[in-house]
Amino acid sequence: MTFETECHTVGVLIASRENVPPQTRVNRVAENFFGSTSLDAVAIVEGNEPVGLVTRQKLLFTLFRRFGFELYGRKPVITVADTEPLTIHKNERLDVAIDMALQRPVEDIYDEIIVVNDSSCFMGLLSVKQMIIQQSNALANSMVQKEIAKARIKELENIEKIKSQFIANVTHELRSPVNAIIGLAELMKISCEKGYMDQLNDRLSLLMSSASNLRAIITNILDLSKIEAGKMEVIYEGFDMAALLRESAETTRVLLGNKPVEVDVITPISPLHIVSDPLKVRQILTNLLSNAAKFTEKGKISLLLNEEEGRIKIIVCDTGLGIKDEDISRLFTAFTQLEDVTTKRHEGTGLGLTITKNLIRMLGGSISVSSTYGKGTAFEIVLPKMSSE
Ligand SMILES: Nc1ncnc2c1ncn2[C@@H]1O[C@H](COP(=O)(O)OP(=O)(O)OP(=O)(O)O)[C@@H](O)[C@H]1O
Ligand SMILES: [Mg+2]
Repeated sequence: MTFETECHTVGVLIASRENVPPQTRVNRVAENFFGSTSLDAVAIVEGNEPVGLVTRQKLLFTLFRRFGFELYGRKPVITVADTEPLTIHKNERLDVAIDMALQRPVEDIYDEIIVVNDSSCFMGLLSVKQMIIQQSNALANSMVQKEIAKARIKELENIEKIKSQFIANVTHELRSPVNAIIGLAELMKISCEKGYMDQLNDRLSLLMSSASNLRAIITNILDLSKIEAGKMEVIYEGFDMAALLRESAETTRVLLGNKPVEVDVITPISPLHIVSDPLKVRQILTNLLSNAAKFTEKGKISLLLNEEEGRIKIIVCDTGLGIKDEDISRLFTAFTQLEDVTTKRHEGTGLGLTITKNLIRMLGGSISVSSTYGKGTAFEIVLPKMSSE
């Protein structure tokens, strides 16, 4: 039996140094065992050299047999001792020592082992049980370490994969509005030359929407960099949360275009004054609502606002695509989009939810999500009503 673990030597595991000279009477040694329940064995040492071993179990067994005490009690202990105990060097490896111990006859397997130094002098006794416990701990540790190492490698691979996916995504996301802007600008030039003012106007609107799309992507990337560098500031001020929700709902209706999706705002209390960072709260809502609008083809997007115990709760729920249970944990990881890159139908860089989560944390709140794949998703945000500053 061998263990692939870091090697320990037996010297550090010496459990006891109990020893007696060979002429000591058996009943004296027995008294030692009676006196200390934790004493499992005594080495017999002559000068400094080990010459035998008596274990509690074997000695007491001999004495408790009929007439045992009378027959052996007064005899020197060496007569009832094992005179060829397993003896090993203090620098022996633990796994080798266990191997040697376990190769002994069954009745001796758990007998203590004598440890000696370079000059074969007695150093102490090792308990086999203790060695096995130590070795299994080392084994468990190394297995845990191996698992951790394996997980790290996997994590690194994942990060690499996510990063390269992100670069592909961002390049794509940046390139589309940039191409649109350049293309539209060229077309506008032609419209101008020909004096087609209506055409020029339409193209200008398209150009503006592409430009603001581009700005949104760049802002997201910059925001996340700022958050990661700890440079994002929170500016507290009082505002009406209900009004902010209604405004956000309006923007969502614009985002939905002509998709058959209703947008509802349900707030029992209006106005609801809170002190927080309105720009950040708006950004949080925009991120959640733009997702809801993006991933919902029909049905409803609802915005619910409630106040409870000094906190406000906002729920953004939709009747859209939904999220599979196994994907929920990846949602808030930067650059993660659940759709396969090759078949993805929706635009985005996969930064929205990561930024959202960070902003909510900065405002002292929390976010949770529940979703049924194919049915819809609900994000719940809790924010303090007043800043804690
Ligand atoms: N309401 C939702 N319904 C279904 N899936 C969602 C919803 N919200 C988020 N997801 C999934 O989570 C992923 C990550 O969302 P996130 O907002 O972080 O990125 P994105 O919307 O893809 O890109 P970005 O927000 O940077 O434009 C989305 O790509 C989508 O797969
Ligand atoms: Mg998003």
